[in-house]
Amino acid sequence: MIIVERTLLIIKPDAVERGLIGEIISRFERAEFAIRAVQSAHLTTEQAREFYAEHEGKHFFAGLIEFMTSGMVVVIAAERDGAIQRARNLVGDTNSAKAAPGSIRGDYGRDNTANAIHASDSPESAQRELAFFFPDLA
Ligand code: CMP
Repeated sequence: MIIVERTLLIIKPDAVERGLIGEIISRFERAEFAIRAVQSAHLTTEQAREFYAEHEGKHFFAGLIEFMTSGMVVVIAAERDGAIQRARNLVGDTNSAKAAPGSIRGDYGRDNTANAIHASDSPESAQRELAFFFPDLA
């Protein structure tokens, strides 16, 4: 049975600044994702802290919030069967240095923080993250 899923992607400030919006969206389109919503944003500290609330208290939290509020991001709702796991495969390891060549982080990420893109890590996260940015998306 084919289960169509949606996942939430964020093209992070490092990738936006380097002119990689089109390249990254193209990778998802070539992988047969349907782009259902796109929004640019400059996140406030409050938004970033709420979005990443599960990481509060971790050693990297402050740096993550500072980085995610440092510039423009592009937020995307993307859809296809198996979207959540497929997107994570395209994105690669959190640590860009370990991410496989050919993955988005392997090709464009710099480290653990400036890692080009976020993708939801589970159906529960996807639901929460999609509602956070696209509350009106049916
Ligand atoms: P993201 O997919 O956006 O979700 C949480 C983010 O925390 C992760 O990508 C990384 O960018 C960031 N982060 C920074 N340092 C670490 C770390 N040591 N381990 C995991 N995530 C980290």
